[in-house]
Amino acid sequence: MQEEELEEVSKEVINCERCTLFKERTNPVFGAGSITSDIMFIGEAPGRNEDLKGLPFVGAAGKILDELLQSIDLKRNDVYIANILKCRPPGNRDPKNEEIKACTPYLDRQIEIIHPKIISTLGNFASKYIMESFGITAGSISKIHGKVFAVSTLIVQVRVIPLYHPAAAVYNPNLKGILIKDFKILDELLKKI
Ligand code: URA
Repeated sequence: MQEEELEEVSKEVINCERCTLFKERTNPVFGAGSITSDIMFIGEAPGRNEDLKGLPFVGAAGKILDELLQSIDLKRNDVYIANILKCRPPGNRDPKNEEIKACTPYLDRQIEIIHPKIISTLGNFASKYIMESFGITAGSISKIHGKVFAVSTLIVQVRVIPLYHPAAAVYNPNLKGILIKDFKILDELLKKI
């Protein structure tokens, strides 16, 4: 059932022309991982490698994400990973507001179908979108990373934990250290739910 519902959304994404990004992309990147996972990671947008493979976080940032997951004994297939945008912005530029507006209804439906207990947002764009969609004004990621926000919808309670984007740690060992610490907080949270 869950699988079929996601398949339906994925088909819509493949045929999507809601913004102009579909014109230049190779493949849309819908999302991947366990659809029964308690935790969903949300990144920003596909980069070059993701665009070529049609999978999230398969480049340098993905390598760091794998290490971080491993540091708390998790594997890719234990979690679900999606992005704010499904198509790669040319040259990896920042997502535009109109692109976020056009694309996030797909993400909202993924969240609704998977109904994770924890949403971990990676970087400023994902954190801002998710926090604001739950009615919380998001500060910059440097202020809110590693903090746990309990939010309620009409039906469920979700914990949102914003984290630095792993790409930011590719050339910055300090940020990698912070991410490792924040993943420990995520691990504690996972053990409690
Ligand atoms: N960065 C992201 O935000 N998402 C990806 O899928 C890859 C890199």
